Amino acid sequence: MELIVTFLESYQGLCILFTGIMMIVLRIVSKEKENKSFPGPGYKYGLGPLITYIHYLYNGIPEASSYYLKKYGDTVHVWVCGEPTIVTNNPTVARHIFKNNGINYTSRLGYDTGLKHIGMFENGIIWNNNTKIWKKLRLFFQNALNAKTLNSAIHASVSAAKNMTCKLNELRQRTQDGRVETLNVLRRITLEITNTLMFGVDIENDEKLVEIIVEYFKAWEYFLIRPWYLYYFDSKFKVHTNAVKDLWEACQEIVRQKKTKMKNVVFDDLENPNFLECMIHAMNENEISEDNIIQCVLEMLLAGTDTSSVSMYYTLVALCDDREVEENIVKEIKEILPVSDFDIDRVNLSNLKNLENALKEGMRIKPVGPVVLRKALKDDVINDVPIKAGTNIIISLLDMHKRNDLFTKPTEFNPNRFKQQQLENPDFFYPFGTGPKGCVGQFLAMIEMKVVVSLLLKDFTFTSAVGQLKDVDTRWDIANQPTDASYMFIQPRSYAKLS
Ligand code: HEM
Repeated sequence: MELIVTFLESYQGLCILFTGIMMIVLRIVSKEKENKSFPGPGYKYGLGPLITYIHYLYNGIPEASSYYLKKYGDTVHVWVCGEPTIVTNNPTVARHIFKNNGINYTSRLGYDTGLKHIGMFENGIIWNNNTKIWKKLRLFFQNALNAKTLNSAIHASVSAAKNMTCKLNELRQRTQDGRVETLNVLRRITLEITNTLMFGVDIENDEKLVEIIVEYFKAWEYFLIRPWYLYYFDSKFKVHTNAVKDLWEACQEIVRQKKTKMKNVVFDDLENPNFLECMIHAMNENEISEDNIIQCVLEMLLAGTDTSSVSMYYTLVALCDDREVEENIVKEIKEILPVSDFDIDRVNLSNLKNLENALKEGMRIKPVGPVVLRKALKDDVINDVPIKAGTNIIISLLDMHKRNDLFTKPTEFNPNRFKQQQLENPDFFYPFGTGPKGCVGQFLAMIEMKVVVSLLLKDFTFTSAVGQLKDVDTRWDIANQPTDASYMFIQPRSYAKLS
């Protein structure tokens, strides 16, 4: 009782109560009765939608989804933002949404007001629910990630990794015992790779930009499914609004720099124009607006840097837990990679199977995108259950990757599982999503992760200063990032052997 009173006295409690009343009123006014399809909590005069929504607001999308999946089965019906929502960890259902009828699910769950606050409303690629504009903008990403760019990605990744390892001494000196904030090191590496390949501008303060990107992620999660009346009296609203503004301004500066550089360049003379050059050219031809470009630059930074860096970090921590696996990877790297790092080619990388399996296993255990969010554009039928246009879909990769029937001992980090034939090309392992709305950067991601991790492991030993992978607390939201500083001790291999 005391707990309930404290809850109701708190600002959040009052807001949630208000949300509840609003939802019940809306439901009664619209007289809309849900046609329960898959199992899930009952409608109960609007209490079902209210309770599930509060659950999602309070616990975040991945955790709330896991709860309902555990309680009701592998495909369940709930309500998020008062809208009917299907949550699944069933690979057949996921395949239908991703691929079989993928074109019907190229939109995503989220409030328009929230999307406006983060600049994603009918702009950019990731959450642009205007399919016409999304298709047009997605093409710029796809074209930029062509075979030539993927080849250049090796060189760009080698340079970025080397530039950063030169700074390790300075980074060690920032802490008393020499531990290094490793995720930030990896973030700065992936930022340099993205800039080299996609923008080609001077980033004055990469550390600051990395910080701004991380803050934007928090704003994204804050605004996505929160009703507008909950944020106006909340002190966090301003912080998150400023975070969005900071990143927008940083991207504006990137675009401004490039536009100046391009003033004296004839576009047709460029041999392999990069992402930003192509976008600026399209703006000059009146095909897209400057706002489109800034938002796409922003999303390239979000999707292209934080995903691979976080995935690499989890894998590095997991390798500290299992030195035998690490040893095999280092042996493989030494056998396969050429003497000069700048001679690494795509064939070398494709032969780094132990490393590839470790990265896949890292993404299986801690997928950086734990849930894939979609929305049905038209009516559909899944497993004989009618799905109305506008129904939200949450595919929980987190739960699908931990299914006992698909993975033996799913909570264990065991890269060797990917050596088994049925896991060589599984249709139930989707760390990058798939289909028409799947990750455009997955091939680049694998290249940069393989190059960066192999160069780091070849020359350095990593020791986690935050315990095992299972001890790393994560903020399970649309992006699964560690909550605390990601400290590791990083020592040159020869030095480590001597000590
Ligand atoms: C380990 C690294 C990465 C992981 C795990 C990852 C994962 C994902 C996931 C799960 C999605 C949602 C897919 C869906 O809805 O089916 C996604 C979308 C996306 N990813 Fe990645 N990603 C990674 C790296 C990258 C990189 C390096 C880039 C860019 C160079 C990139 C660009 C994008 C974009 C633009 C989208 C949105 C596509 C759309 O909505 O049309 N990603 N990614």
